[in-house]
Amino acid sequence: MNSYPALFTLTVLCGTVSAAPDTQAPLHDSFSPGQIWTDNNGVHINAHGGGILYDRGTYYWYGEHKIEGDAGNYAQVGVHCYSSKDLYNWKDEGIALKVSDDAKSPIVKGCILERPKVVYNSKTGKYVMWFHLELKGKGYGAAYAGTAVADKPTGPFTFLRAGRVNAGQWPVDMQKEKRTLAAEGSMPKLTSSSYPEGADLAAFFKRDFPGGQMSRDMTIFVDDDGKAYHIYSSEENGTTHIAQLTDDYTAHNGRFVRAFPGRFMEAPAVFKHEGKYYFIGSGCSGWYPNAARSAVADKIEGPWKELGNPCTGPRADKTFGGQSTYILPVQGKPGTYIFMADIWKPQNAIDGRYMWLPIRFEDGKPKLEWKNRWQLP
Ligand code: DGJ
Repeated sequence: MNSYPALFTLTVLCGTVSAAPDTQAPLHDSFSPGQIWTDNNGVHINAHGGGILYDRGTYYWYGEHKIEGDAGNYAQVGVHCYSSKDLYNWKDEGIALKVSDDAKSPIVKGCILERPKVVYNSKTGKYVMWFHLELKGKGYGAAYAGTAVADKPTGPFTFLRAGRVNAGQWPVDMQKEKRTLAAEGSMPKLTSSSYPEGADLAAFFKRDFPGGQMSRDMTIFVDDDGKAYHIYSSEENGTTHIAQLTDDYTAHNGRFVRAFPGRFMEAPAVFKHEGKYYFIGSGCSGWYPNAARSAVADKIEGPWKELGNPCTGPRADKTFGGQSTYILPVQGKPGTYIFMADIWKPQNAIDGRYMWLPIRFEDGKPKLEWKNRWQLP
């Protein structure tokens, strides 16, 4: 994906022009982070803030379809899906979840629909999509999680519901004697990205207890035992929640923990390696890059131990210009993981780039370094 291949390879046959057959040689044999990455039609892949589902020998990449300009930061089209067998070459499978034309729908065109993730539920045979949803015209105030389901990985997905999460539920990692809505300090300022001295670290949790917790940047992680977890930035992004889903993966079952209290993390991504759980995320600086964070735990519900910025080398303090979105375990290659990130272009959203990098381990810590071009081992 280093260069722009000829858009739409055309073959002239007996005076007519027809598209080249699907059997043409693959275009890409490597990853080139930050470059234009063309799909089977020669068009830059449009699946931002994405995640991958591996299903029956095929990888499916779901992400935010963006359009030109600032308008592209709002959902005008929906969630785009691509498929691949080799992770280098992606076929456009179209829009898996369309935004609605109905002004009353929570996913009406012009809403903010970010970071879609799809998982397969073997009990129901359904593909379940989760995403971060903000209601049209309300900025980032709604902080909803949304769900949709489909019978096929490529969709069409049907919107189920969206809203705040875990209303009236106490986190399992909060001691019984702490389970009170009484303040234990001052209310932090909404605009800050750290809690000032004396602020109650659970202030926003308590504020949102009756109506439901905020859910913004998110991922879904399915453990080896089939239990699925929704991991999301909550409490004004100050604290990450790790919440178990129901057996059909379409709702929360009420069990959750509060991880990294007061650490203001976004863009969570989680993977499991040799029995341990690893987390990579970012700090909070809007569309602008910051230093990534990493952490390890023996159990998905923690306790989590922070391991610092996994990036090394030039621009490590800015995650090489990117922000995490997903960590992909490569099938058939145990120990091989791809760190997937977005290089956002908020002024011209459609031009956002992808930064996929290999994860290596050093002293039990995940490490990332920049590569201009690389191949799977
Ligand atoms: C950072 C988040 O990670 C993105 O998904 C997006 O919500 C931007 N903030 C908006 O500023």
